[in-house]
Amino acid sequence: VSRVIPVDTFDLVIFGGTGDLARRKILPALYRRFCSGQMEGDSRIIGAARSDHTAEEFQQLIAEGIKEFDPKAYDAEKVAEFTSHLDYVHVDALGETGWKALAEKVSGDRVRAFYFSVAPSLFGALAERLHTHGMADSNTRIVVEKPFGHDLASARALNQDLAAHFDESQVYRIDHYLGKETVQNLMAVRFGNMLFEPLWNAQYVDHIQITVAETVGVGGRGEYYDKSGAMRDMVQNHLMQLLCLIAMEPPARFEPDAVRDEKLKVIRALEAVPADDIVRGQYSAAGKQPNYLDDVGDPTSRTESFIAMKVKISNWRWAGTPLYLRTGKKLKARTSEIAVVFKQTPHSIFGPESGSHRNILTIRLQPNEGMDLGVTIKEPGPGGMRLVDVPLDMTFAEALGPDAEDVPDAYERLIMDVIRGNQTLFMRGDEVEAAWAWADPIIDGWEQRGDRPMPYDPGSTGPEESMMLMHKDGRRWREIK
Ligand code: BG6
Repeated sequence: VSRVIPVDTFDLVIFGGTGDLARRKILPALYRRFCSGQMEGDSRIIGAARSDHTAEEFQQLIAEGIKEFDPKAYDAEKVAEFTSHLDYVHVDALGETGWKALAEKVSGDRVRAFYFSVAPSLFGALAERLHTHGMADSNTRIVVEKPFGHDLASARALNQDLAAHFDESQVYRIDHYLGKETVQNLMAVRFGNMLFEPLWNAQYVDHIQITVAETVGVGGRGEYYDKSGAMRDMVQNHLMQLLCLIAMEPPARFEPDAVRDEKLKVIRALEAVPADDIVRGQYSAAGKQPNYLDDVGDPTSRTESFIAMKVKISNWRWAGTPLYLRTGKKLKARTSEIAVVFKQTPHSIFGPESGSHRNILTIRLQPNEGMDLGVTIKEPGPGGMRLVDVPLDMTFAEALGPDAEDVPDAYERLIMDVIRGNQTLFMRGDEVEAAWAWADPIIDGWEQRGDRPMPYDPGSTGPEESMMLMHKDGRRWREIK
């Protein structure tokens, strides 16, 4: 019996429908939901962009995109069936071309979502024109992507542009990390079990580590990246969201505003981070490999492609328990995980020779999604009371069988949530602003001081100094492997 619940019939308009994100992520995600039977009836997906295409050309472009970016799911017949739901309108975001035609296409009484897969500088113009052409009613939802602003002032301006014509309940700000299966599972584990929550505080948790390591460099998107750096590209959004879910108080209900209120409180409780608690890095190969400066084409760039930092949350639950965040490009392996490192037992009855042990709950986002809990047991055999740490494996594929194998990816999940009208996994405007309010002084500090990132070898675990960040506290990073 399929557990897929079809969503209501919808019209989804994708501004920037011929762009990279649409071809690479959005349309392949919709195709997979279509294949799984979630997109029933005569739902329509309408590409809207500046270039002049026929519907057939758009369908062809998307079919090729699916073939290129999701070859495993590609099936010519299915794709043809799927693309028959696709239409195209040539629209000029800043002019009048196409708006009437678009309004006619989406005039029915059904859920209507507009995906702004375009530069943020166009958000205001799009919102305004949707309004002028009668498409901004209560059936309408707006989907926007990061980067949501460059700093607090620009994020505020974007929020105001959208708020001029739409209620907050109509705005879906995507952070695709929230759509990752394990990230949602983190909430299930925290709030669905009696076992963890009583220990989930500074009294029992020594520290928390969040690592998002990537092997890719910034080649290809240097122009965007060099203006952002790891802080704006990853920490202010993806790592911040992970931190919130790990640290928030239990919401009263798993409902959009209950969850987002708790996340906001965490962000507001973050302490300012002193410069000594941050290490910035930039990949730089002494040998042949291109280094960051080649990738962005600017030999003087001071943008960081790596960051490690110690973060403190000033509240009752977490006072005294730091969180260490780390993310970077061109590192040794692609691995993302959260590790909750518990304190040692107050007294070892087995004596010093039994070694030091602690429980670690590891939540792996990728690869090998899953969780394990390290527990200390007796090493089997006659050798006396020797202790060893073993993982209690909570990997879903094994425990749940085939059901766990076909997990929708983040975009599939999030786009369907938009159609269902569920904002739980989307960022609220005040959350984004609070995250910028925390990040801005850090970035301003670097600019004022002319701070230079430390070089690190591609394929390494980042600059040496990032190890020191932990060592000086008598702790160490988990291995990136
Ligand atoms: C994006 C960043 O938001 O997330 C990229 O702009 C980064 O720089 C990507 O590579 C990482 O996403 P994922 O899902 O591959 O971990």
